[in-house]
Amino acid sequence: MKYNLISKYDIRVPRYTSYPTSPHFINGTNEPLFINKLAQISDEPISLYLHIPFCKEICSFCACHTQISRKSSTISSYALDLTNEIKQIHSHINGKAKVQHIHFGGGSPTILSTQDIELIFNCLQDNFSILGNATVATEIDARTCSEDYIKTMASYGINRASLGIQDFNPKVQQAINRHQSFEMTQNVVNQLRENGINDINFDLVYGLPYQGEEELLYTVEKSTELQPNRYAIFGYAHVPWMKKHQQVIDETTLPNAELRWKECELISKTIAEHGYNPIGIDHYAKDDDILYKSLKNHSLNRNFQGYTSDNSSNLIGLGVSSISYINGAYFANELDIKNYHTLTNNQEICHKRHIELNKDDLIRKQIISELMCYLEVDLSKYEADFSTEIELLSELKNDGIISIKNAIITVSPDMRNLTRAVCAVFDKYLTRGEAKHSRAV
Ligand SMILES: C[S@@+](CC[C@H](N)C(=O)[O-])C[C@H]1O[C@@H](n2cnc3c(N)ncnc32)[C@H](O)[C@@H]1O
Ligand code: SF4
Repeated sequence: MKYNLISKYDIRVPRYTSYPTSPHFINGTNEPLFINKLAQISDEPISLYLHIPFCKEICSFCACHTQISRKSSTISSYALDLTNEIKQIHSHINGKAKVQHIHFGGGSPTILSTQDIELIFNCLQDNFSILGNATVATEIDARTCSEDYIKTMASYGINRASLGIQDFNPKVQQAINRHQSFEMTQNVVNQLRENGINDINFDLVYGLPYQGEEELLYTVEKSTELQPNRYAIFGYAHVPWMKKHQQVIDETTLPNAELRWKECELISKTIAEHGYNPIGIDHYAKDDDILYKSLKNHSLNRNFQGYTSDNSSNLIGLGVSSISYINGAYFANELDIKNYHTLTNNQEICHKRHIELNKDDLIRKQIISELMCYLEVDLSKYEADFSTEIELLSELKNDGIISIKNAIITVSPDMRNLTRAVCAVFDKYLTRGEAKHSRAV
């Protein structure tokens, strides 16, 4: 790609893990709507996401909703709060909802003790009907992951794990305050496999301080020695106005837009050479991985955890900052742990923002999801007038980012990094320059 185009599209756009995106939810709790949407849950299996907002240390690049906690009592108290939220959700659902997908994210779920895990899983089992073939996944910080954590989670049916690696170079690790050796990662991967957890994802990040092509190549090549089934490759989102701890990152050490683009291309090429297929805009998976199979049979989805083979229509988010999507409405939970404690203890509803999607939102949600998952959408399937969007897309077409044939919009495979810019054209809520998002590439 020519440099003038790289700088032209070095814009800030949402990550489109939802539509409308979370800054456009309405402030306030809507208890009747929430209860009504939960009551509509019937026989169709749902998914659960549990957010664990604690880490032993904060990596200075991190944009996740987390905080430092080394006190086991704080974490146990939060685990108890989670069980109160689970019970409250259950009380609004008719019977025990079937669950086909559970994801523990964070923060670092690896901070949970055996007792915390037992408490949470026993409560989940009492209040939901977890299907025998459910996918149960956990995010893992290899630096704080004990064998006890793996064994206990395995005993409750965990069958998928996602490890944050980010970068293996000491200079980059120093700059992001994250020291994680290859051996540490290897040890956890071995323990996971010894405990029957064979579906393993690695997260890598490009665009980090002091990262050049050489550093990235080293990280990618080294990580492939451990043979994960999948990769998620994120461009570093530098958002110091939102995440104050990122202010310690020296911006002069960050790669510029051209280098970020090159890094992204280099990762794609190297990972492909190792037998991983591109999925959506930033994931890669082996031929036998369910994510790749979902892409092939057109059942891939995108939610707050990124790309997923999970095809449940309803996702219930538990814990601070979690977002639920229930029968056409989003509900975003309280962000503050103390407030969450009060709410759950008083058996109050935990969301603080929400939005119910109208017909137009639902169409645009589907279009954006298709673009993000398949890099293609056929607008003729939708009963709506998109002439304004087609006009706006002409610039992206002239720049070779997309092709438009009849009403089919296709993102060029080598331009897939810019898919979010294509989606932004369909985003009715987005006013350019209004909300501050991360970079498109
Ligand atoms: C909740 S963390 C993963 C689990 C665990 N806490 C760890 O760090 O290993 C989710 C992932 O988000 C990604 N991430 C966090 N902050 C980011 C940022 N500012 N830009 C891009 N990716 C980021 C990292 O790749 C990280 O592994
Ligand atoms: S990257 Fe993971 S371990 Fe580091 S601060 Fe973020 S959530 Fe915690």
